[in-house]
Amino acid sequence: MQLDVDLERVPLGEGPTPVRELTHLGEQRGQAPIWIKDDGAYSAFGGNKARKLEWLLADARRRRKRTILTGGALGTNHGLVTALFARRLGMRTVLVLVPQPESAHVRRQLERIRATGAELHFPRGVWRAYALAAWLMLGRASPPANLPYFLRPGGSVPLGCVGYVEAAIELSEQIRAGELPEPSHLVVALGSGGTAAGLLAGLRLAGLRSRLVCVLVNDLVRVDERTVARLARRTLRLLRKRGSSVREIEVAAAEIEIERGWLGPGYGHSTPAADRATRLLGEREDIVLEPVYTAKAVAAMLDLNRHGAFGPGPLLYWHTYSRPED
Ligand SMILES: Cc1ncc(COP(=O)(O)O)c(C=O)c1O
Repeated sequence: MQLDVDLERVPLGEGPTPVRELTHLGEQRGQAPIWIKDDGAYSAFGGNKARKLEWLLADARRRRKRTILTGGALGTNHGLVTALFARRLGMRTVLVLVPQPESAHVRRQLERIRATGAELHFPRGVWRAYALAAWLMLGRASPPANLPYFLRPGGSVPLGCVGYVEAAIELSEQIRAGELPEPSHLVVALGSGGTAAGLLAGLRLAGLRSRLVCVLVNDLVRVDERTVARLARRTLRLLRKRGSSVREIEVAAAEIEIERGWLGPGYGHSTPAADRATRLLGEREDIVLEPVYTAKAVAAMLDLNRHGAFGPGPLLYWHTYSRPED
């Protein structure tokens, strides 16, 4: 199945990203077999952001924008990767960064962000960040009245989600080709919700029955089953509006399961379960997790699988991270 759609795109990565079974976890694995789709391999800067930015930055370029205005928490992957790709396309980036618990990971991310040359602002909280962003929209306009391209934190708007519809279709082709079995459940980290929404729309379009299990890692913005389903429906509407022959399908909030028990004290706070998952996957499977998203997603998946929550499976862990090349 091909996604034929009248939307511009700048290629920032390449699929299909590899799939394999995790065979070295021993008893730590739990009941169901676990497969991974290593979507971090999509680009040198990881899959999660590149798949969204291919469509979003193309839109900014089509509108002749010179500046991208976006934000996130201090260690934002979204901000970092936006700044890197925007620079490659000749655009500058202004980032509004809200506090998050300090850690070696966050400090390293911030160094990487600084090295992109992006203009950085550090408001004290989310509401101040919105006010500052509104002010920067006007203050960073390039003459004559070319406002910056405002990118929602996380890039979770229908156009960005198109990247994940395509990713789910890519997965369905891999299943059809016999590279992996159809998963009973697909587990992914849930931040701003665009990854989950695009995947859900794409899974249903591709006719896969896998249940989407989203592990909530974010309490800075409200994301729930209804917001994810709504974003999936808006993405499908956009595709139809832009000429894609995708069929009318219903996407309901009941099709998503959100696991809320692995957030710990909040966004960006480490948890013992996440630290254990990071060590386990690093030592046994040579997979690098970061503490904010993927470590909590894997911790949840392993705990639930040990309790038999997924039945016989198989499970697919959708890995959204790869360390940016320094
Ligand atoms: C590594 C990683 N995984 C998952 C996510 C969550 O994606 P979304 O914001 O689309 O829910 C992010 C978002 O920044 C991320 O950086």
